[in-house]
Amino acid sequence: MRTLLFLLLFLLLLLLAPSWTLDFRYHSNREMEQYLLRVNASHPDITHLYSIGRSVRGQQLWVLALGVTPHRHTVGIPEFKYVANMHGNEVLGRVLLLHLIDDLVRSFNNNETWAVRLLHSVRIHILPTMNPDGFDSSNTDCVYSQGRYNANGVDLNRNFPDAFAGLKRQQEPTRAVMSWLQSETFVLSANLHGGALVASYPYDNSNGGQELVGGASVTPDDDVFVHLAKVYSFNHASMHRGDECQEGRPFQGGVTNGYHWYPLAGGMQDYNYVWAQCLDVTLEVSCCKFPPAAELPALWSENRKALLAFIQQVHLGVKGRVLDGSGTPVQNAVVEVRGRRNMCPFRTDRHGEYYRLLLPGKYSFTVTYLGHEVLTETLSVPHGPDDYSAMRHDFLLRRVAVTTGAAPQNATSSICNQTPQEPACGGAAGHTVAARITALSLLVALRWLID
Ligand SMILES: *[C@@H]1O[C@H](CO)[C@@H](O)[C@H](O)[C@H]1NC(C)=O
Ligand SMILES: *[C@@H]1O[C@H](CO)[C@@H](O)[C@H](O)[C@H]1NC(C)=O
Ligand SMILES: *[C@@H]1O[C@H](CO)[C@@H](O)[C@H](O)[C@H]1NC(C)=O
Ligand SMILES: [Zn+2]
Repeated sequence: MRTLLFLLLFLLLLLLAPSWTLDFRYHSNREMEQYLLRVNASHPDITHLYSIGRSVRGQQLWVLALGVTPHRHTVGIPEFKYVANMHGNEVLGRVLLLHLIDDLVRSFNNNETWAVRLLHSVRIHILPTMNPDGFDSSNTDCVYSQGRYNANGVDLNRNFPDAFAGLKRQQEPTRAVMSWLQSETFVLSANLHGGALVASYPYDNSNGGQELVGGASVTPDDDVFVHLAKVYSFNHASMHRGDECQEGRPFQGGVTNGYHWYPLAGGMQDYNYVWAQCLDVTLEVSCCKFPPAAELPALWSENRKALLAFIQQVHLGVKGRVLDGSGTPVQNAVVEVRGRRNMCPFRTDRHGEYYRLLLPGKYSFTVTYLGHEVLTETLSVPHGPDDYSAMRHDFLLRRVAVTTGAAPQNATSSICNQTPQEPACGGAAGHTVAARITALSLLVALRWLID
């Protein structure tokens, strides 16, 4: 009788086990969905599961948001995201992100200080697979590309509007991500790939303009991007060494400018940065695109600290609101930092908020808003991540006298006047670069096996 009871208890435990442990293996899309639904159901206080759309074959693109107000944006709390598996056969990222979810939820419930502080200070959105269809059709090869594309045979990381090379017809998951970026003001993000071990930062493309410096395509926020990439590579067990995959050319510090590595058009990170004011980094997290399942525990522990440290960088710089002459937060005020001429200037969102990731130092801000005097202020910016908050600063504008009319708005690149949904064809580049792009495509074709 007693043995029977024990047996029953044992069976019950076996049945329930998956609900509190996440095993180290490759979960199917179905299993992953069930895991996310279970986490959402058992932690309604800190998680919110939503879908941003469907793949070509109709699979949901699930996002789990984590934070103490998981259902909505809170003024002053930055939005962060991780995206994995946009190349269906680059699969470590989706495993890492599921374990990250597991770690965050468990550590928060154990009242671990870092987890409590993190989930109180940032809302973290996790899209473990952007290409579930590709994952279904991929094989376990380390190098080749079976499963890389979506179900229409399109490379999603070549499918975004490109500020240097113009427009493409967007695929289903691409459109879903683009409207996701419009629904939330993401401040910082990374997308996880495989086939190399390096943190690559924008730009990925160029049209031979001023951005080209010594073979790199350099953004106005290059110092911040290099820092962000290094936070990942130096918190990773070996990425910072730069030659772990026996590449021909080592990556200094385990980081690289995207274009300098190899140029590509239509990438997701440039799109995030140029159109969505979101600093996005591409993390290549494994030499093998589909590592053997037995290696997953070690790969998780090599990446865990880096994944967490990178999220904390969302607290770099300055954040706050722009208030008009009557003290009301205003949308679309332009908040510029001297010396950083962003292709599309950063603007306040619908909450009147801006977030500006900056390294510690002194910066001169210029705030421009229709009907108000141009405001210039110099701020001394401390290092925010250790305190789990960027410096807070609101800009208070003064209305101009009725007769002088509106304050001048800085001329902005024409690509910014379009909604990101319908970018200007040709963008800043125009058609003159077509020949150049064609020439580059040979190089790209040689390198696409890698990322
Ligand atoms: C997540 O959990 C909440 C609370 O239990 C529930 O209302 C909601 O429907 C769940 N979301 C999904 C997508 O199942
Ligand atoms: C959680 O930890 C904090 C400080 O570490 C402590 O003050 C608090 O009482 C703890 N709460 C619970 C429920 O254990
Ligand atoms: C915006 O225009 C003002 C006035 O012409 C100029 O001083 C400022 O430098 C411009 N901002 C940028 C980022 O170039
Ligand atoms: Zn990739």
